[in-house]
Amino acid sequence: MTSAGILDSDCMTLTRFVLAEQKKVPSASGDLTQLLTSIQTAVKAVSSAVRKAGIAHLYGLVGNVNIQGEAVKKLDVLSNDLFVNMLKSSYKTSVLVTEENENAIVVETEKRGKYIVCFDPLDGSSNIDCLVSIGSIFGIYRKLNDDPPNEKDAFQKGRNLVAAGYALYGSATMMVLALGKGSGVNGFMLDPAIGEFVLTEKNIKIPEQGNIYSINEGYSYQWDDAISEYVEKKKNPKFGKPYGARYVGSMVADVHRTLKYGGIFMYPATKDAPKGKLRLLYEAIPMSHILEEAGGLSSNGSISILDIEPTQLHQRSPIFLGSRNDIKELLEIISKHSK
Ligand code: AHM
Ligand code: MG
Repeated sequence: MTSAGILDSDCMTLTRFVLAEQKKVPSASGDLTQLLTSIQTAVKAVSSAVRKAGIAHLYGLVGNVNIQGEAVKKLDVLSNDLFVNMLKSSYKTSVLVTEENENAIVVETEKRGKYIVCFDPLDGSSNIDCLVSIGSIFGIYRKLNDDPPNEKDAFQKGRNLVAAGYALYGSATMMVLALGKGSGVNGFMLDPAIGEFVLTEKNIKIPEQGNIYSINEGYSYQWDDAISEYVEKKKNPKFGKPYGARYVGSMVADVHRTLKYGGIFMYPATKDAPKGKLRLLYEAIPMSHILEEAGGLSSNGSISILDIEPTQLHQRSPIFLGSRNDIKELLEIISKHSK
């Protein structure tokens, strides 16, 4: 928008941005551009559903539990259906992995394409009914072989990602996208007037160091000593200026804030959840790719989340991500405790 509130005639939409990126690679077929267009449509539809959920009676439970044993909300189901339908009908995918389905979805032969998509259609379910921000997360890989498509196609390291992104349904709807390694991170705000995502945050870089820590402190009695020591260091003025604490409980919102303001987001192992809570394929890996592309770091406590070789569809991993200096400080404490 110009200062007069008139739409910028050079309006850089997400579609236009991706098309321009595609044109930089002369051999590119345009398949990824088309796939991202389908994802955008799913996100717009989810955003619209989220905005009118109260009026359309979309709050509340469906009445069953998902593969993780968690109660399924009506908006979860709707969002999953929207993503699955849009991805299949893009004709660009062959395997879909979603938080909501126990097994990988193998796309019908006549609709198959070369991409594998792992996604969480609506993350932060516990925040739906109280109007706190929620989000969608996705990671896109290439199929690496000519075998019939199967779940193993999704067992790729994050380093192989062709693109990853998230949509945040917050006070506005925003999509943040990172294409392959080295292409940086860009943010696009949904302009409801034209129904398009418009580039508002170019080449986002996370601050080298922040002053916010983000972790569910209710589980502090279950942390290991390294995490307890680190959090104490961030709170106790004896160790320097204390950090502020922020924890939304929606990963997309917590990570988006971390990307913008810097600091650290942590979901460590706890006694009850020795592998943490967050899922590798469609939560930890895509978010880590985005943070690392923005100059931050990610880790499971010993290696980058992007170097983990997945072996299961709904595998969990402890996760730490954020500003370089903050993550390095945490890793030093973890390594001291593991000696
Ligand atoms: P969900 O996929 O069931 O919505 O759970 C994932 C969410 C993340 O968005 C968030 O970071 C985390 O769960 C919060 O968990 P907790 O309530 O244990 O702190
Ligand atoms: Mg989730």
